[in-house]
Amino acid sequence: MDEARANRGGGPDDGAVLAAEAPAKVNLRLKVFGRDGSGYHGLETIFLRLELADRVRVELRGEGLELTVDCRPGVPAESIPSGEDNLCLEAARAFGDELEDRGRPLGHGLRIHLEKRIPAGSGLGGGSADAGAVLRVMNHLAGGPLGTPELVALGARLGSDVPFAVLPGAAALGWGRGHRLLPLEPPPPRPALVALPGIGVSTPEAFSWLDTDRVEGGEGAAGSGGRGLALPPAGDLRSWGTLTGLARNDFEGPVFRRHPELATLKELLSGDAILSLLSGSGDAVFGIYPSESARDRAAQRVVEETGAGVVQTNTARMAAPRTPAVEEDG
Ligand code: C5P
Repeated sequence: MDEARANRGGGPDDGAVLAAEAPAKVNLRLKVFGRDGSGYHGLETIFLRLELADRVRVELRGEGLELTVDCRPGVPAESIPSGEDNLCLEAARAFGDELEDRGRPLGHGLRIHLEKRIPAGSGLGGGSADAGAVLRVMNHLAGGPLGTPELVALGARLGSDVPFAVLPGAAALGWGRGHRLLPLEPPPPRPALVALPGIGVSTPEAFSWLDTDRVEGGEGAAGSGGRGLALPPAGDLRSWGTLTGLARNDFEGPVFRRHPELATLKELLSGDAILSLLSGSGDAVFGIYPSESARDRAAQRVVEETGAGVVQTNTARMAAPRTPAVEEDG
C-alpha cells in the first residue's frame, strides 16, 4: 500500500493500510506538584523514548471498529484489554468523532491490529503509545486534516501520556498534565534496561500516596510539591551529564515506601548506570548504561537476585522522521 493511495483526494480508499511503531517512554525527570482544580497534578517532566515498541497497524475496511491483539513474549494476554476499554479503540473513536465534527467523516470502518511488546501497567506508557500511534496513522490515512497541536489536544483527552506519544520526535519537556510539550533533540543513544517486578502499581493510587505522604510530612493539603526548576537551555538537555543532574522521580519516595523491593531493584540497576529511576509511577525500574556490557551485567544481577523480568533495549536512536510520521506496512 503506498502513501499516495492513502492520501488521494476524495478520501482514503477502502483497504488502505498503514502501520507505525508505538515506542515506550521513560521519564528522566518527573516532578509532581499539587493537584489543580481539575483534580490532576501539575508535572514537570522529561520524556525520552526507548527502542522497545509496540506496532500498530490500521486498515480502512467495512464498517465499525475491530481490534485484534497479538501479545509477544513477556506480555501476558490477560494484562491487555482487547475490548472497548483498549485505548487504541478510544483513540480511533475520538479521531472519528473529530472528523465528523469537521464535516469530513472517514467513511470507513477500521481494523486495528496491535502487536504488544511493552508490558502493561509498568509506567512505560505502552497504552498511551498505542493510542498516539492510532491518532498519527489515522490522521495520515485521512490526508492529514489535523496539525500536531490539534493531535496533541485530542491526545490529552485520552490520557496524560498520549500527547507525547503523538509527537514525531524522541524526547520532549512536558508541563501541565504532560500536555504542554517542547520537543527536544534526544541525548546520544545509550543501552537501557527495564526491570519488571510484576507487582503492578496503579497510577491514581501512586498519586494519592504522594499526596498522603506530603500531608503527613507537613506540606499541607495535597502538598505543593515544592518549586520547579528553571531548566537549562533545551540544547543542554542533549547531554547525559546535564540529564543526570536533573534526574529524579517524585514517585520514588511514596512508591518505594509501600514496595521496598522496588528500591532494592533500583540499587541493583544503579551500579554502573548513568542513571536509574522508577519509570513513571512504576512498577518498572529502568537504568541507562554507558555500554551494552554494563547493561547486560545489570540484567544478569537482576535475574539472578530477584524474580523480576528484564527487557534489554536502547534509548531512541534519533528523532523519528517527521514526514511521514508513520511507516508503510510491508
Ligand atoms: O491521565 P491518566 O489516565 O494517565 O491518569 C490516570 C490518573 O492519574 C488520573 O485519573 C489521576 O487520578 C492521576 N493523575 C493526576 N495528575 C496527572 C496525571 C494523572 O492526578 N498529571
